[in-house]
Amino acid sequence: MALKANEQSCTKVWIFNVLLGLCLVIALLFHGFFNKGYSFILTSSPPSEGGDSSTKKGQLSVVEGPGPLLEARGKVVKPQVNVKAPWVPDNTTTLCPLVPPQLVGALEPFQDAPSFEEVVKLNPGLEPGGHFHPPDCRARSRVAVVIPYRDREQHLRILLHNLHPMLMRQQLDYAIIVVELAQPTEFNRAMLLNIGAVEALGLWDFQCFIFHDVDLVPENDRNLYTCPKMPRHLSVFVDIFGYHLPHQMIFGGVTALKREQFYAINGYPNKYFGWGGEDDDMASRITESNLTITRDELDVAKYRMLQHDRDWGNDPNPNRYKLINTWKSRHDKDGLNSLQYTIQTVEFRPAYTWINVTIDKDTILKVRTALVRVLCVAPSFFDVCSGGSS
Ligand SMILES: *[C@@H]1O[C@H](CO)[C@@H](O)[C@H](O)[C@H]1NC(C)=O
Ligand SMILES: *[C@@H]1O[C@H](CO)[C@@H](O)[C@H](O)[C@H]1NC(C)=O
Ligand SMILES: *[C@@H]1O[C@H](CO)[C@@H](O)[C@H](O)[C@H]1NC(C)=O
Repeated sequence: MALKANEQSCTKVWIFNVLLGLCLVIALLFHGFFNKGYSFILTSSPPSEGGDSSTKKGQLSVVEGPGPLLEARGKVVKPQVNVKAPWVPDNTTTLCPLVPPQLVGALEPFQDAPSFEEVVKLNPGLEPGGHFHPPDCRARSRVAVVIPYRDREQHLRILLHNLHPMLMRQQLDYAIIVVELAQPTEFNRAMLLNIGAVEALGLWDFQCFIFHDVDLVPENDRNLYTCPKMPRHLSVFVDIFGYHLPHQMIFGGVTALKREQFYAINGYPNKYFGWGGEDDDMASRITESNLTITRDELDVAKYRMLQHDRDWGNDPNPNRYKLINTWKSRHDKDGLNSLQYTIQTVEFRPAYTWINVTIDKDTILKVRTALVRVLCVAPSFFDVCSGGSS
């Protein structure tokens, strides 16, 4: 009897070893797979410095639809939305002047919060979904302003009341893309920025992303919402911090990245739920990729922060330090190339494009461990084998 039990146990040990071997092979394959995707392959050539790559040939092509599909770490990232934006094609034939002529410099931000319909009335030329391009010249930049959002209508009204006239004076081809995370999932600013960028490219051939918190209002229209050669931190000097930059690695609030740069660094990490950490992780991704964070001087890069209580479902993330410390090991596999979400609705509302999105937090936090867990942990075998013939 005892012998039989022993034999049975050994068979299980044998099966367990086979599984363990299989597991190792899979782990190695997995590793190889992800490492192969390391190079920054782009399916389109990067735009020339002036913004529009067609300008060199002296002929401006009509802009009327989605951007090209781009790769992040070897994976083509496709937008989910498959609707045509109701935006008039841009067939202008001359470039706008290098320095927009209508800029005024320092602004006294509007404090009032008109309805979105009123904002549209105040800003003639604004299309549904909050899109605009100068009617008589070709904008030098096509810019998606991506705003991560939840339950802050008052702030969004104030912000758009300020942004639309300023961006029109800057002669940009731009749209405001508001990405709302459906309840009850804990807020995830970084993921909403990834989603907004990917879906924005499905609507229009944007070349540049401005990632914008809803509570920061610019105080100078010479703070151009464009993407220079290097990533730019725009909200350098914020009133509630005494117009003082706390440290050099800050890259939160309002930031600008060229689309090719954003895809090359695999976008934002997805695993930061709750408040904090994702901006530092992003700063590390940027510097690791030999890009430099640039900033304007004090009189230009000034912002006013709108006051608010802490939002429900956005408490400081207790895991943020652990995540920041391991940013490097996640750079290749956590980002645009592992983005998972479901678009619920896209609406071209007066003054902004609204994207309602759901995220499955458990899936995001477990993506790569699921397969490994099934094959490697095999708890029942392990229990039987280690427990002997009891
Ligand atoms: C450009 O588009 C506008 C609006 O769709 C149209 O009225 C105009 O005729 C077009 N111009 C050219 C040169 O195609
Ligand atoms: C967003 O989508 C979710 C899921 O479909 C839905 O429950 C929620 O009501 C939507 N949010 C708004 C503001 O409509
Ligand atoms: C950054 O520059 C270093 C030194 O020139 C180089 O070894 C490294 O490959 C570069 N990294 C990237 C991501 O381009």
